[in-house]
Amino acid sequence: MPFYQRLGDVPRKRHIQFRDNGTLLTEEVMGLEGFTGNESILYHLQSPCRVMEIGEFEPIVRQEWLPETHQHRMMHTKGVGASGDEITGRQLLMWNSDVEISLCRPSEQMDYFFRNGEGDEVIFVHEGTGTLETIFGSLPYKDGDYVVIPRGTTYKFVADEGEQRYVIFETPGLIEIPRRYRNQYGQIIEGAPYYHRDIHPPAELNTHREQGEFPVKVRVRDGYQTYLLDYHPFDVVGWDGYLYPWTFSIHDFEPITGRIHQPPPAHQTFAGRNFVICSFCPRKLDFDPLAVPIPYHHSNLQSEEMIYYVSGNFGSRKGVDVGSITLHPSGLPHGPQPGLAEKAIGLHETGELAVMCDTFSPLKLSKLAGELDDGKYALSWYEPHEPTEAGLTSHL
Ligand SMILES: [Fe+2]
Repeated sequence: MPFYQRLGDVPRKRHIQFRDNGTLLTEEVMGLEGFTGNESILYHLQSPCRVMEIGEFEPIVRQEWLPETHQHRMMHTKGVGASGDEITGRQLLMWNSDVEISLCRPSEQMDYFFRNGEGDEVIFVHEGTGTLETIFGSLPYKDGDYVVIPRGTTYKFVADEGEQRYVIFETPGLIEIPRRYRNQYGQIIEGAPYYHRDIHPPAELNTHREQGEFPVKVRVRDGYQTYLLDYHPFDVVGWDGYLYPWTFSIHDFEPITGRIHQPPPAHQTFAGRNFVICSFCPRKLDFDPLAVPIPYHHSNLQSEEMIYYVSGNFGSRKGVDVGSITLHPSGLPHGPQPGLAEKAIGLHETGELAVMCDTFSPLKLSKLAGELDDGKYALSWYEPHEPTEAGLTSHL
């Protein structure tokens, strides 16, 4: 999506004969919006329709927690145990019809391939390194990377040894670079918080010619359908276009600061369908002599605000730990806890690192979110009023 890429061998023109050792290759146009949106053209050794066996369809089951009260919430995810792989280990926290937000702490390697056939994915790598092997080539990832995977990409995670901790956003819409960061030709403009050089597409394409048994699990129709192939699905000899997976490191986000406080859109990193993903990064704070260098109170009248805290001290929140999540649902005001605004005056920088997702429709909560909810965050702004001299004498 970000710009034109080409890997491996492609013919001189599209839709002409292209052969590998004399065999006519299968050209696949993988595209959006009919034949008018972004697309890539892939050249396969086998027909991508070729399946040997159609396996099970497993519907996605979401266990919803219906809290009895509407209130701000804080969840601590650090202690959530590792389980499953990068697909089966997705532990849903909250969702609506635009986005599903999951925690994933895989403990097993994938022994199959996966393709999301009905949505784009952003995987924020809080901890972990490895390689995302894809039909478009290999994509190394590390701590702090957002791995952006467009629908239709067949892939397999090959994680390195060690802790893996991801926050995953899945959407039936598209994940895009915000429109205002790009000019009419698609180039990222001066003043945007990142540039094309910060976006890393697959760098190496390995064409697999093996035969055998290769299961592919496809998310489609709100479930997982498994197919069995008799060839390795990464059988592409070349591709070009605008549709492919890529990584962007949160550490390459250039924060925008001002003399007085900048609103959350200054931190926007990606645009989704009815939601945004923002990065709060270490930065210099507001520098007007009278500035209050943490957020003002605000009412999310039309949005829900989920923040995942990655590292550093978060100056406007009390009780936050690495891996904590706050959820400020729509309809309520929120802001720094008492005393924090005063304490922040005179601060010149922050080391905070956090990922925020603001959705424009209410989020449902999972049973896991209910188990992780501390139940008391909503009262963290409450301090009993002390009787004052003025109060005692005001009726005299
Ligand atoms: Fe907020």
